[in-house]
Amino acid sequence: MEMKKVLVTGGAGFIGSYIVGDLVARGIHVVVYDNFSTGQAEFLPEPCEWLSVIRADVLDSAALLPAMAGCDFIFHFQANADVRGGPVNTRVDLDQNTIATWNVLEAARQQGIKGLAFASSATVYGEPEVFPTPETWAPLQTSLYGASKYACEAMIQAYTEYFGVRCFIYRFVSWIGERYTHGIVFDLMKKLSQDPTRLPLFGDGTQRKSYLYVKDGVRGVMVGVERGGAAKNVFNLGHDHFLTVLEVVRIILDELGLRDVRLEFAGGQRGWLGDSPLVHLDTTRIKALGWHPETSIEEGIRRTVHYLRDHPHLLQTRNRVF
Ligand SMILES: NC(=O)c1ccc[n+]([C@@H]2O[C@H](COP(=O)([O-])OP(=O)(O)OC[C@H]3O[C@@H](n4cnc5c(N)ncnc54)[C@H](O)[C@@H]3O)[C@@H](O)[C@H]2O)c1
Repeated sequence: MEMKKVLVTGGAGFIGSYIVGDLVARGIHVVVYDNFSTGQAEFLPEPCEWLSVIRADVLDSAALLPAMAGCDFIFHFQANADVRGGPVNTRVDLDQNTIATWNVLEAARQQGIKGLAFASSATVYGEPEVFPTPETWAPLQTSLYGASKYACEAMIQAYTEYFGVRCFIYRFVSWIGERYTHGIVFDLMKKLSQDPTRLPLFGDGTQRKSYLYVKDGVRGVMVGVERGGAAKNVFNLGHDHFLTVLEVVRIILDELGLRDVRLEFAGGQRGWLGDSPLVHLDTTRIKALGWHPETSIEEGIRRTVHYLRDHPHLLQTRNRVF
């Protein structure tokens, strides 16, 4: 895909900011489009002639349409990225993921943009019966977050068919690494910062998840965009291995040097309604294009802990209660 000017929705977020950094380093003009609800200005590269930042909402079509003027590609990485809130707020995933994505597609259509990369999720597989799960597995939904992402994927593919917008859809496992502001490592460090003697945990600790280090993940996204030859490209992106929640906890406590922490398991095989006890994706498709993860999950968790320990103010950024 030719990329001279690119718009990144959610470009100030954990993952989006790495996409922005990668594109700017390549000398591509990047328009960051973000409302900074969870994104951080400090994640953005130093101001330069290749970078413009628009503080606006994806649901605001009047702002979104002109922001895309002159762009030839979109990385749509904005979303409500918190997977757990569905049962409490049944509207947020519809608005922030499905309607937001339709807004992006409509603006892209009107601006004649012919390429889009989308941050989907392994949650679209619900609780699959095959592991590692391939892209061809027919999903049954278990969460509104996953359902909204699956709806986004479907709409994007329809726009490919109607309007020739080539698409690159990535189903991510959970990402870890520097600039991480939500997820298990964040939640556990936040709890431990409040009380280092005890640690309440969702589930029974046996849930097994694959995690992907952010710099490996962004490399995977770029490999897919550069080498994915189809009009509709769908790629799993995850690590070859997985860890149990208990193993993740042990690494975090070890890295923090905490001993004698009382682990308080809530019980049950799932952490929350819609959680999947095992996430492990088959990444043969993206590997065939030359990608593989280079950083072990353990090393990625240790780097995440380091980063949050060095940036404690970030632990205060997510207090959203659904
Ligand atoms: N982090 C993960 O483990 C993970 C896993 C699977 C999929 N994803 C997907 O990857 C994408 C990026 O996730 P992330 O972890 O970087 O999350 P994030 O919350 O750090 O980034 C989302 C960004 O979008 C912005 N944003 C949110 N709503 C907006 C709106 N209405 N208008 C404009 N900007 C808005 C936020 O300010 C933030 O900068 C999301 O689509 C998420 O669903 C993430």
